[in-house]
Amino acid sequence: MQQGDPRRSAETLAVCLGRPPAEPGSPLNPALVLSSTFHQGGPHAYSRDGNPTWEGFEALVGGLEGGNCLTFASGMAAISAIVETLPVPGRVVVAADAYNGTRRLLADLSRRGRLRFRTVDVASTDEVLAVCSEMAETPGRPSGAEGTFGAGGLLWVESPTNPLLAIADIEALCAGAHELGMDVVVDNTFASPLGQQPLGMGADVVVHSATKILSGHSDVLIGAVVTRRDEVLSQLATRRSLHGAIPGALESWLALRGARTLHLRQARSASSAGLLARRLAEHPGVAKVHYPGLEGHPGHALASRQMNDFGIMVSFEMAGGAEAADKVCRALELVCVATSLGGVETLIERRARWAGEEAIPGGLLRLSVGIEDPGDLWADLSAALDTASGRTR
Ligand SMILES: Cc1ncc(COP(=O)(O)O)c(C=O)c1O
Repeated sequence: MQQGDPRRSAETLAVCLGRPPAEPGSPLNPALVLSSTFHQGGPHAYSRDGNPTWEGFEALVGGLEGGNCLTFASGMAAISAIVETLPVPGRVVVAADAYNGTRRLLADLSRRGRLRFRTVDVASTDEVLAVCSEMAETPGRPSGAEGTFGAGGLLWVESPTNPLLAIADIEALCAGAHELGMDVVVDNTFASPLGQQPLGMGADVVVHSATKILSGHSDVLIGAVVTRRDEVLSQLATRRSLHGAIPGALESWLALRGARTLHLRQARSASSAGLLARRLAEHPGVAKVHYPGLEGHPGHALASRQMNDFGIMVSFEMAGGAEAADKVCRALELVCVATSLGGVETLIERRARWAGEEAIPGGLLRLSVGIEDPGDLWADLSAALDTASGRTR
């Protein structure tokens, strides 16, 4: 078997993929190539069009998702490249609680007449497909673009969603959208390629903020797109070259190094997330816990079929609202109060403090569970919850 043999498990692929050929004297790890330009006549000419250091990370992410990968300067750079590929005027149906940057980008482009979009509850397959069907029938299709990516419209799915952790039926949505002539993008940041592989469920394109669990150490910004459609890959490569939203060589090297331990970090974080979710649900200061691993979560049965674990993210609503949630943040000693997710360290934040998150309950705290001792995490969280809800210890 070769290093990247698809018969190997994802855990093994995370360790093996993206390495230079195993030859006597050759290094195990890809070189960090810090050069903007290359001697003529070889596979690389100028680093905005391609840098050998990107290729290791692209091989690994592509191998895990089951397609071909291109890496970008950030998750938003990858998302922008996909949206920019749509013929004008684009038509997009998007999860109402998709990542706020994605929604803000669509709103910006819509104000400037480049596309129209509708938001939907992605957990309701019927609602999503009804809106897709209305979109597909709206007059004003882009002319001369038949057969190109997104010409019949685009469905943008996130599952689990950020931050309410709703679960979409990816397979049913892809089948329904394709019947209507639409293409489907799945933002797989929250699940990671180890949690679910949307291309195998029918998605046309998968996008990642690889800033998060893929690289895993909160030390780089980087994005990735994966697809099996060669013409889409080539259009996205063109967007990357022309817009210049390329990852730094150091960032892609660090991302590859971080991704080598993805399976270990994810297994630990997902197991701790399950434990914390169950304990949070029992705390009297907590009104509601959103975690697909809890039996009471509306997407639990679907997540059990669709995902390999229930993820590393937990959201919970404080009974005392925004004020109590802020008190929790002030009382924490171990858990860091910071935005972002997927790093080795546990992070928490009150999402409604961000512009564009007004629809999120004010008392909702989003927790990204790291790899610390789960007992230490619960000790810190429960002490802060007790303080915030006026319980003496
Ligand atoms: C689900 C999701 N997608 C995309 C992004 C954007 O990624 P980046 O911050 O790497 O640009 C984020 C960032 O938080 C995210 O949570």
